[in-house]
Amino acid sequence: MQSKLFIANWKMQKTFAESIDFCSSNLSALKKLSAQTDTEIVLCPSFPVIYSLNEQLADTMVHVGAQNCSPYISGAYTGQVSAQSLKEIGCNYCIVGHSEQRKYENVTDKDVAMAAKNLCDQEIEPIICIGETEEQFQKNEAINALESQLDFVLSALKNTKQPITIAYEPVWAIGTGVVPESAYLKKIFQHLSAIFSNVHSGPWRLIYGGSVSEKTMSSFKDIPSLAGFLVGSASLDFPKFEKIVLLGK
Ligand code: PGA
Repeated sequence: MQSKLFIANWKMQKTFAESIDFCSSNLSALKKLSAQTDTEIVLCPSFPVIYSLNEQLADTMVHVGAQNCSPYISGAYTGQVSAQSLKEIGCNYCIVGHSEQRKYENVTDKDVAMAAKNLCDQEIEPIICIGETEEQFQKNEAINALESQLDFVLSALKNTKQPITIAYEPVWAIGTGVVPESAYLKKIFQHLSAIFSNVHSGPWRLIYGGSVSEKTMSSFKDIPSLAGFLVGSASLDFPKFEKIVLLGK
């Protein structure tokens, strides 16, 4: 069985100094956690931290990822960061299409697909976030919303043999403390796995994100194809994150 993936999405919640301090204070515990649980742990700090965090974690099995990547390869795109730069600073994973990027930075499905393709070309595993809004959920339109978010991604990545991860993050579950019911999650995961098994030629896995915490972990038992978790606020505190890894491994 493949080991479970746990991604800590620190968003803009920790400064440079706080991120470095998180790792130095918890270095041996992090090392032990990933080794003993045989899990894949990825910490995603903000851009300026990636290089230093990677150095700090060099002799551990813990990885460092980014929270976003440009849809463009290079050029006059002020404020953007390319997949190649991420590779050069030792980044092996990158979140793309997070709902906060879609909402605040107007990132489109096409941008997400282009960024994911650039990442695969650099052998960085994209963590592609998709999820329905509260309104789509209420109107029973989740499946349609997810399929439409995936349209560009599936065609942009159709020839890639690089591993990709899809993070199903219902927008209404992010930061709310509310998680989908198990039957609902099963339905969504079954549907997404059917899409990827039928259409995608390279390796893929599905993870869940949105209010993952020690308290909600019991909701995620027995979900077929659930390969890990994208954790926001509960990843900011090491003991909380550690409990999630131990419960979900
Ligand atoms: P949350 O965030 O765990 O705080 O709900 C998850 C995310 O935004 O990826």
